[in-house]
Amino acid sequence: MSSDTEADTIIGRFNARIDVRLAEGSAPDDRDLLEGVLVREIGRISGHRVGRDCWVNLEVAGVDAVQPEPDHADSTAYWDGYAPGADLETTLENLGRGFRWTQYKEHGPGLELLGEPRTVLELGCASGATSLAIARTGAEVTGLDSSPAQIARARDWWEEQPNLSFVQADVLDYLARTEDTWEAIVSNWGAGMFCDPVLLLPLIVPRLASGGVYAFSHVEPLAPGHGPQVLYGNGYRGRKVAVVRWLYSPEQWERMLLRSGFAKVEVEVLPGPTPDHVGTVIGRAWAP
Ligand SMILES: C[S@@+](CC[C@H](N)C(=O)[O-])C[C@H]1O[C@@H](n2cnc3c(N)ncnc32)[C@H](O)[C@@H]1O
Repeated sequence: MSSDTEADTIIGRFNARIDVRLAEGSAPDDRDLLEGVLVREIGRISGHRVGRDCWVNLEVAGVDAVQPEPDHADSTAYWDGYAPGADLETTLENLGRGFRWTQYKEHGPGLELLGEPRTVLELGCASGATSLAIARTGAEVTGLDSSPAQIARARDWWEEQPNLSFVQADVLDYLARTEDTWEAIVSNWGAGMFCDPVLLLPLIVPRLASGGVYAFSHVEPLAPGHGPQVLYGNGYRGRKVAVVRWLYSPEQWERMLLRSGFAKVEVEVLPGPTPDHVGTVIGRAWAP
């Protein structure tokens, strides 16, 4: 691989042009991984983050992936308004049927995937329902979310659960500065799906106790839509709001997890309950 980088930073704006040649025989999805590595390096040097305040124009081996300069708001307002209709009664009723990692009621594995951790951090907890389900097993649970509205609702709903607390923070900022460790870190369709894994995964490993597990789930990606996907968070008519989600195949996850320092990994697509319905990517990775 060879690369030439010309970077120019103006207040709040960052432009980079990178010409990259992949070695002969590289797998097609190496491009996604490479993009992630470059973005991380550029972010590290410039102090910017892709998808939030940094966009990278990347041209790889003749594939023109140049993106226009961003002209959109970040996703905070989008997440503040997420699941506005959720109510406490229905949430408790759903929890009564048992926690699942999938989008279907009573389908797929539940909390047994975690073993019996005594301390758990949930990334992207929204209303805190998953955190509550885990706290009910007796573990000391921290639910984390960047949305002030989601954290306010979670605190309001679950204030009487003594072993459950909530933190409002961006997951990358929080993991980079905390010195705490947990026996399990989880993302149930949470921040693990909405952050660049090349940035997030290496921050998770040192925050897990020895042998601790990172467990995550997200929607099955529709091939060939692996990698970052930028969605219109505010519909097609309102103020432009970018929501970036990162979906990968089990093979891609396994490679990224191992490269990030996990010792053992298991990722699969669990099919939906009806043949040809949307499945769920469910993964676990263990710290050394
Ligand atoms: C689909 S919801 C998660 C649902 C939740 N885990 C559950 O079990 O019901 C995704 C959540 O991730 C949060 N999120 C997205 N990006 C984040 C980030 N960078 N840091 C922290 N939280 C984030 C959003 O605010 C949102 O509440």
